[in-house]
Amino acid sequence: DDAAHLKPRAPVVTIMGHVDHGKTSLLDALRGANVQAGEAGGITQHIGAYQVTTPDGSLVTFLDTPGHEAFTEMRQRGANVTDIVILVVAADDGLKPQSIEAINHAKAAGVPIIVAINKVDKESANPQRVRERLLEHELVVEEMGGDVQNVEVSALKKTGLDKLLDAIALQAEIMELKANPDRAAEGTVVEAKLDKGRGPVATILVRRGTLKVGDIFVCGAESGRVRALIDDQGKQVKEAGPSMPVEVLGLGGVPMAGDTLTVVENEARAREVAAYRQSEALKKRTVQAPV
Ligand code: GTP
Ligand code: NA
Ligand code: MG
Repeated sequence: DDAAHLKPRAPVVTIMGHVDHGKTSLLDALRGANVQAGEAGGITQHIGAYQVTTPDGSLVTFLDTPGHEAFTEMRQRGANVTDIVILVVAADDGLKPQSIEAINHAKAAGVPIIVAINKVDKESANPQRVRERLLEHELVVEEMGGDVQNVEVSALKKTGLDKLLDAIALQAEIMELKANPDRAAEGTVVEAKLDKGRGPVATILVRRGTLKVGDIFVCGAESGRVRALIDDQGKQVKEAGPSMPVEVLGLGGVPMAGDTLTVVENEARAREVAAYRQSEALKKRTVQAPV
């Protein structure tokens, strides 16, 4: 894309952290909903994505992944969709094995980390200890002369959330994230399923271009035509631009998370590309089969 067509786009954020440190609670607090209370044991059972408006009016896209497995899996499939990682660390529990794994995953992907020190409402909270432990993993927070932002939050009491959104907006500004909205759309599947009533449904994160109702596309090894687009509020929309997550109806089959959706000029071309991708997938399977 030539630079003249590039426009600022919302950062795509993934929340990672140790078990029970409050990833789901924080996502829900940011969304202003409370899905977590309704989930069995508060365990994240789905992958989704949604957008939040920051205090200064900019947008942030959150990927609601169940942790670093999804992040790593997507990355292994060549889908680097995350711009910023929020590392959630419970202030009472401190850095734990999965916190350190998350740091390593983010570093390997070259994705900047913002640390959300959660549960600061607890009496046993020790945020300073967390900042000191981060140092051991080469994450130097601003208070210690480094450039890693950290924000004290309580997902439970809903404190520090605006500060966290501001920190994300600042990081995004530094990164100068841009995309061309005026071209055929390209996106990444963040989740896909076969819905009883609606058929194959995929949540697509638009990477560039604008996806429109009626667009003909190839998605992984499937082809289709956009029958409907549904935003994160459950509302039907006519189009979705860069960094916007949207549910897509009109797929010929169920694609895989990490697959790329590409809008093409006509159905013949869509079928051709889909057939090619299917044969490639078959070949791979044959080659990888045990002898
Ligand atoms: P997994 O998805 O199972 O790894 O957990 P999680 O990281 O999503 O944590 P979750 O949001 O399920 O929260 C775990 C527990 O910590 C729940 O009992 C929450 O109510 C509690 N919790 C989350 N945030 C806070 C907080 O800011 N303060 C306090 N006191 N408790 C919190
Ligand atoms: Na939990
Ligand atoms: Mg969770």
